[in-house]
Amino acid sequence: MNRSTYHEPVMADRVVEGLAVHPGGAYIDCTLGDGGHATAILDAAAPSGRLLGIDADPEATAAARDRLKPYGDAATVVDGNFESLERLAAAHGFMPADGVLFDLGISSRQLDAEDRGFSFRRPGPLDMRFTPGDGPTAADLVNGLGETELADLIYRFGEEPRSRRIARGIVARRPITDAAELAETVRRASGYPRGRTHPATRTFQALRIAVNHEMEALDAGLEQTPRVLGPGGRLVVIAYHSLEDRPVKRFMNAGPLRPLSKKVTKPSADEVRANRRSRSARLRVAERPEDLS
Ligand SMILES: C[S@@+](CC[C@H](N)C(=O)[O-])C[C@H]1O[C@@H](n2cnc3c(N)ncnc32)[C@H](O)[C@@H]1O
Repeated sequence: MNRSTYHEPVMADRVVEGLAVHPGGAYIDCTLGDGGHATAILDAAAPSGRLLGIDADPEATAAARDRLKPYGDAATVVDGNFESLERLAAAHGFMPADGVLFDLGISSRQLDAEDRGFSFRRPGPLDMRFTPGDGPTAADLVNGLGETELADLIYRFGEEPRSRRIARGIVARRPITDAAELAETVRRASGYPRGRTHPATRTFQALRIAVNHEMEALDAGLEQTPRVLGPGGRLVVIAYHSLEDRPVKRFMNAGPLRPLSKKVTKPSADEVRANRRSRSARLRVAERPEDLS
């Protein structure tokens, strides 16, 4: 892979600061992606710092392994799902950890991949699974669910107010196996005018979340962090839409971790200009109290 095609890490300085990265620390990147945040963390943790990088997508771990080679034994890359965070941390000697990072959603590389079906802007098989071969694809849901189930899914995971008419339009056009064909079907059925946001944005988000059980995985991963972090350890989460930011906020406010600020951190105007995909990012930080038993 060409270096310039790497995913641009969002708010990398804020991530390093939020995790309070220090030399010799042990950090877990639950969403390794192309390893952008991982390299920033490893650089700040040198010398003798360590990082465990987890990703459900074998294409991501392959790219990250390549990129993290210069760090040698300091970087451990594993194929896995962060819903098994505690097990993976224990198996690789990262309990307790000084910091845990979740940078949710998909990477630019996944979005741009023509054979994954994540983008409404590209023709390609409607797959959307982070782990190819694991469970039903987006096409299976689009073509297999009843109209009401499909509408409910689009409403629930996409917060799409026009979910019913979109589901009706999809059912009338089935079978749909191509991402661009689905995008066009949704655009027509929704009746939304063409604007800055593509009319299929929320429907594609909903399908991706459903295919990958993203809300369940997030709840499971967050719930395990207090047991994985050592005293004073930090949790940093970057969410890209309200559906995933809400449970993060709720989790951080409910204890046993302590949120470090009531306000979310957003990218600077300069970063949004340089990397449009950062525009919806919301970063939150929490700390494991010293006295948590
Ligand atoms: C926004 S990207 C991370 C980019 C990364 N921070 C970087 O700097 O390159 C999110 C990554 O999380 C992975 N992912 C999403 N849900 C996951 C889960 N439940 N378990 C493991 N990895 C997951 C995706 O495959 C994707 O590679």
